[in-house]
Amino acid sequence: RSQQDGLKLNQPISDASSLAPAATVGLVPTMGALHQGHLSLIQRARQENALVIVSIFVNPLQFGPTEDFQQYPRTLETDRHLCEQAGVDAIFAPTAEELYGSAYCRQQEQVTQVVPPQFMTATLCGRSRLGHFQGVATVVTKLLQLVQPDRAYFGRKDGQQLAIIQRLVRDLNIPVEVVGCETVREASGLALSSRNQYLSAQEREQAAAIYRGLQRAKQQFQTGEKDTNALIDAVKVELATVPIKPEYIELVHPMTMAPLDKVDEAGLLAIAARLGSTRLIDNVVLQDR
Ligand code: PAJ
Repeated sequence: RSQQDGLKLNQPISDASSLAPAATVGLVPTMGALHQGHLSLIQRARQENALVIVSIFVNPLQFGPTEDFQQYPRTLETDRHLCEQAGVDAIFAPTAEELYGSAYCRQQEQVTQVVPPQFMTATLCGRSRLGHFQGVATVVTKLLQLVQPDRAYFGRKDGQQLAIIQRLVRDLNIPVEVVGCETVREASGLALSSRNQYLSAQEREQAAAIYRGLQRAKQQFQTGEKDTNALIDAVKVELATVPIKPEYIELVHPMTMAPLDKVDEAGLLAIAARLGSTRLIDNVVLQDR
């Protein structure tokens, strides 16, 4: 840089490409108990990056006091084999002490946390799981800082989580590309989830009504129904056929998570429901083509 020009304000470094490392890194954050949904994220990361890192960490910060943190399936050895078969280069599986420090784990200290914007957590799971998305935002920020990937992969099944992470990466200027991946389902339509392990064979069959409900609403949307209440009623028709207790059925803006009275351009129709003691979530995007 010539002395006369001086250092320019707000200009990109012109030869930055020569500084860029050759190997791109893709990160797939998970809580383990890996299934085909996780593996589809890993496959996508494998296609798009030289190196793939999977993190496995059941994050205590994102579980409420009455939730299933203790019970959550932990299957590290099986997960390790699945990752190996899928061509993963490294697994990052820290302990809570390693990630948050032993003082936090002994409940002697708090840690700095990342708080998503209130308007994004006022609906859907944010309303029923207080503090959940703060826990998710905090751990994802830490994982992105530790691994410093070029791309990070998240499933659309957790639509509110994906929107909040896209927003946090933008708001905190984290240099990573967030990649959203389609929901992987069983033949019945039931979205794969680590929590499906809690379901009996009969409950697993009944749980498919969630997907049928979302599909019924989607069909109505495609034939011209734009009204939120009518679309939610379509979901309820299917749910009424099984002993499922909906926690919420809501139609929100796909990026801001704000409630919609009707779909103008696009909406995220999302549901959380309990089947026995198991909590399941799913969603479908309603968008004019
Ligand atoms: P976990 O529930 O293990 O999910 C890890 C990733 O897999 C998430 O991005 C989730 O959306 C995706 N996923 C789960 N089921 C899927 C399916 N059927 N199809 C496609 N993708 C699916 O989500 C978490 O962990 C945690 O909150 C985490 C982001 C790791 C932070 O702790």
